[in-house]
Amino acid sequence: MALFGSKASRLIGLDVGSSSIKMVALQQTRIGYQVAAAGIEQLPGGTIVKGVIAKPEGVVNSINRIFESQDLKDTQVACSVSGHAVIVKKIVLPVSDPGEVGDSIQWEAEQYIPFDIADVYLDYHLLGPTEDGTGTNVILVAAKRETIDSQSDVIAISGKQPMIMDIDAFALHNAYEMNYSPEPDTVVALLNIGASIMNVSIAAGEEFIFTRDIGMGGAYYTEYVQRDLGVSYEEAEQYKKGDAPEELKLTVSSVLHSVSGILALEVQKTFDYFRTTSEFEEMQSIFICGGASRTEGLREYLQETFQVPVEFLNPFQAIQGNGSKLPAGVGEDGSELTIAVGLALRQVGDKPSAAAAGSQTGWKGFLHKLTKR
Ligand SMILES: Nc1ncnc2c1ncn2[C@@H]1O[C@H](COP(=O)(O)OP(=O)(O)OP(=O)(O)O)[C@@H](O)[C@H]1O
Ligand SMILES: [Mg+2]
Repeated sequence: MALFGSKASRLIGLDVGSSSIKMVALQQTRIGYQVAAAGIEQLPGGTIVKGVIAKPEGVVNSINRIFESQDLKDTQVACSVSGHAVIVKKIVLPVSDPGEVGDSIQWEAEQYIPFDIADVYLDYHLLGPTEDGTGTNVILVAAKRETIDSQSDVIAISGKQPMIMDIDAFALHNAYEMNYSPEPDTVVALLNIGASIMNVSIAAGEEFIFTRDIGMGGAYYTEYVQRDLGVSYEEAEQYKKGDAPEELKLTVSSVLHSVSGILALEVQKTFDYFRTTSEFEEMQSIFICGGASRTEGLREYLQETFQVPVEFLNPFQAIQGNGSKLPAGVGEDGSELTIAVGLALRQVGDKPSAAAAGSQTGWKGFLHKLTKR
């Protein structure tokens, strides 16, 4: 029974990933969140290529299969995008009145966005006045229209209504915050390692600090195993998940190890960039999630490289029953459902309004309705 917030206003988290579609519906009870439904459907190869939905019918069929298998009647969903089509930046606007931010951002955004401003949707999150009181700190978000529109269209064709279009990195942050209730100033890095994209997010306590997406993930491991061992993509996928013939196991491990090196180097570059742009220096720990976070040896590799504890983010840690309703095909930690959990926490109208300027809390991430120019 939904005591806090009606069930009707809660959205179903729908994560359209390049290798699979993930769905999580949460219910809020008197003793906390509970999983109402969850599902995962693998996408046929070639359905989503380089972030572009190449075969919309593959996505539509998978979405429908998930909803049917769970007998879900609700159609309102929260979904998300990520990758090179999305820009997230903390900026200072030269206005002191939060009421003027909406207008100002339209003029100021252009200099921060490497795309034609006519091709993007803009939104922002108010952080509050600058120390000298002459400006306003905001997180600017710009997302390519074609990316947002093509995902919204596919979801609409499947008969669902995309009520919120979020950013993977914010869903990741929200899932972490809900499950771990971090102390202020605990600086952590969150890595969601999917099939083709790795979202890196940095949080200080509950505050969202920084994000960057790296165009690399589990498929990169598979491709290396395929190439180095001369096997099919499907075999390589199986081998890297630990199911390799005995005589090939050592070779597979050494390929995985070298790819982890490439991946860790990209993470290192991102951390270095973060340090040059932020007052925060060091992170206390790293949380990893997403299907590819389970790659043999990766957690240990990251721990050795960055010399901080690296642990698996459990997106069901603070959820009643620890996600005992998890569907078949999901690893036992539920790691690849993290983004879907973060999305399932969203509600229509939960985005803080201008009245919340100055408040760092209550951050629920990107956007109800994207601001159209
Ligand atoms: N046990 C495992 N060991 C290694 N890799 C795994 C394992 N289980 C899943 N993976 C990999 O995880 C990836 C899928 O993870 P996930 O579902 O998080 O990605 P996605 O959301 O579909 O992709 P993206 O977000 O990049 O578009 C695949 O590359 C898959 O091979
Ligand atoms: Mg993903």
